[in-house]
Amino acid sequence: MANAEQTNGKPSLVLGLETSCDETAAAVVLREPGGTGRILSNIVRTQWEQHRPYGGVVPEIAARAHVECLDLMVRDAMREADAGFGDLDAVAATAGPGLIGGLIVGVITGKAIALARDLPFIAVHHLEAHALTVGLTEGVQPPYLLLLVSGGHTQLLIVHGVGAYERLGTTIDDALGEAFDKTAKLLGLGFPGGPAVEKAARRGNAQRFELPRPMVGREEPHFSFAGLKTAVRRTAEKLSPLSEQDVCDIAASFEAAVTESVADRCARAMDVTVARLGRLAPLRFVVAGGVAANARLRASLLTLAELRGFSFHVPPVSLCGDNAAMIAWAGAERLALGLTDPLDAPVRPRWPLDANAAPAIGAGVKA
Ligand code: KG4
Ligand code: ZN
Repeated sequence: MANAEQTNGKPSLVLGLETSCDETAAAVVLREPGGTGRILSNIVRTQWEQHRPYGGVVPEIAARAHVECLDLMVRDAMREADAGFGDLDAVAATAGPGLIGGLIVGVITGKAIALARDLPFIAVHHLEAHALTVGLTEGVQPPYLLLLVSGGHTQLLIVHGVGAYERLGTTIDDALGEAFDKTAKLLGLGFPGGPAVEKAARRGNAQRFELPRPMVGREEPHFSFAGLKTAVRRTAEKLSPLSEQDVCDIAASFEAAVTESVADRCARAMDVTVARLGRLAPLRFVVAGGVAANARLRASLLTLAELRGFSFHVPPVSLCGDNAAMIAWAGAERLALGLTDPLDAPVRPRWPLDANAAPAIGAGVKA
């Protein structure tokens, strides 16, 4: 790590704001100088009702919805934490990646509070916040292998430290959450898709349909879900009209296929991690992001980790999806290292975690 801790032995209180997609969130987190954290408040408001008629997130609607409620949510988060603005040590807001309108709302609000109270401002990388959440929930410290699975990203990275990420693999087409969302739409299961597919899959027969296991056996730990999506569509079209049981069986077969594919890619990344960190390094495997809430995926990756001698860490389901506690925590971790940002820090709708990663071979990489 390039920077040493600079907390002067004092705890720090950080307000976090999250507005990168379709959740508006505000939270207050306390970080002790030893590196442990405590959530004092964590308020999340989803916009699903506003986006549901369109079957997906509409950027303009999202930005307007953030504007309407963010200031009141800040007030409520501060109240619940029993803190005044004068008690804060910093303000952190998601600056990217994400939808530009929403990012601007959160960042401007955060900067305004920081300016008015003469507080440090921290422009947080949304994926870094997912990546570091296990530090808040379990005290897990880098280095560790991270599987990051969200609506917009699917990556395997070695987390060497705060701000130090080495990408091992990424998707060459759709993100895993996106694949869940598209499958849900195709099966008429509604929005957001991941939890709906999971619910249907619980009542389904995962062996009924033989769907492809994308990328299994490939050397580099990359992902691909576009071909599977086509296979799901063809299966559904052949059976149309679908009975309720057909829908559940397709959902279960899809979930089994992605889980096997992801587990295979993670196994490959574990080999790479052992080679990179050396056999004497502690072997830890962390899963984060919205799709980490999926029970089948969690169970399968826990088994894999045990088999390979990795300890397994995943945030509680309530902190897998987007929230501001993770933003406040990432801000607190950066503050402890003296990594603050100027008030003219830009929003970054596209912002790779590992800027040095070579592009994966294939089209349309979402880095
Ligand atoms: O991290 P996140 O909340 O937002 C982004 O940063 O993208 O991830 C949202 C994604 C969505 O695609 C959603 O369908 C998926 O996570 N998701 C799930 C589950 N819960 C949320 N996917 C599968 N199973 C779930 N239980
Ligand atoms: Zn996210």
